[in-house]
Amino acid sequence: MKGAPERRLLLVGGAGGLVGRSVLSEFLPGWRIRSVHRSPVARERDLRVEWFRADIADPATDWPALLTGVDAVMTLAWYRWERPRAFRDLADGLERLLAAARQAPRPPRFLHVSVPDGPPRLEATLPYFTEKRRVDRALAASGLSYRILRPTMLYAPGDRLLGVMLRIARRYHLLPMFGDGRRYHVSPIAAEDLARALRQEAEGTGSGSSDLGGPVRYAYRELTDLVFRHLGRSPRYLPLSPSGGRRLAALLSAAGSTLLYPYEVEWLVSDRLGLPPYEGLDRPLRHVERYLAAEAGRGAGVPGGAQA
Ligand SMILES: NC(=O)c1ccc[n+]([C@@H]2O[C@H](COP(=O)([O-])OP(=O)(O)OC[C@H]3O[C@@H](n4cnc5c(N)ncnc54)[C@H](OP(=O)(O)O)[C@@H]3O)[C@@H](O)[C@H]2O)c1
Repeated sequence: MKGAPERRLLLVGGAGGLVGRSVLSEFLPGWRIRSVHRSPVARERDLRVEWFRADIADPATDWPALLTGVDAVMTLAWYRWERPRAFRDLADGLERLLAAARQAPRPPRFLHVSVPDGPPRLEATLPYFTEKRRVDRALAASGLSYRILRPTMLYAPGDRLLGVMLRIARRYHLLPMFGDGRRYHVSPIAAEDLARALRQEAEGTGSGSSDLGGPVRYAYRELTDLVFRHLGRSPRYLPLSPSGGRRLAALLSAAGSTLLYPYEVEWLVSDRLGLPPYEGLDRPLRHVERYLAAEAGRGAGVPGGAQA
């Protein structure tokens, strides 16, 4: 008598972060997950994920062994800010993983999370973009069955963008505003929607690249106004020019803060983050207001609820 069919095996590089948390919820228990990154994560241990401590940038990482029995690979590992050398080494490591996947006895489907277009100056010079694009191009030329997903601003509990804005607005009753905030846009997308898209793609066959925006395209200031509204406060802003915003971010990062980097201000005000809603999901996209209400309520000591 035949038993239940064996669950498919996903190898993830970088499942310990923001997107990884949603990927675990989305893929388990239908898939088995083999996770590769540098530091242990309690949730992976609790979920009995097969975790291997490895630095993807390390040439000694044994990809043929890690790829044994794998049906799909997903690459999430990247840095928000690092030395140029670190980006280069990580991209080299991702290319070694790609080469090993091509040579596997049964080449896996390959899913890669990338980033939307940045301003041309940054795309041409900043390792965050140039090294990411090197990996994007290598995958597109690999001959593997692949999908590159390029989400705009992601949100989920514990994120370092919207969640941080909520905390700053709650604590200081003030947010910085770059220019008037009405001429550039963002369409935040839930990390759980990205994870859902990744699962659908893992189970699909088509190759190519897709940009992912959430259901609503906000002028930036509309979104920050919403943050204040969910905290029950009137919006108050520290007005800065875009170049003043970059200088503030440079000062913060020179002081060791990870709050905001100059390239993030330049990217935001270049109006490239208001991507259209992603239409490939098998269910409606989540609305950011639900998340804002829950997070505002959480900070006010109201579990999961909105603040009046
Ligand atoms: N967050 C956003 O708003 C956003 C928007 C668009 C696209 N993206 C893209 O989405 C992907 C996932 O982002 P995220 O927000 O989930 O990032 P994250 O929270 O910083 O998580 C990154 C993961 O990569 C691992 N990692 C980093 N360097 C590594 C290395 N050298 N070797 C092995 N593992 C390494 C980290 O684990 P260890 O530290 O344990 O190694 C962690 O598990 C990235 O490619 C990012 O560019 C993110």
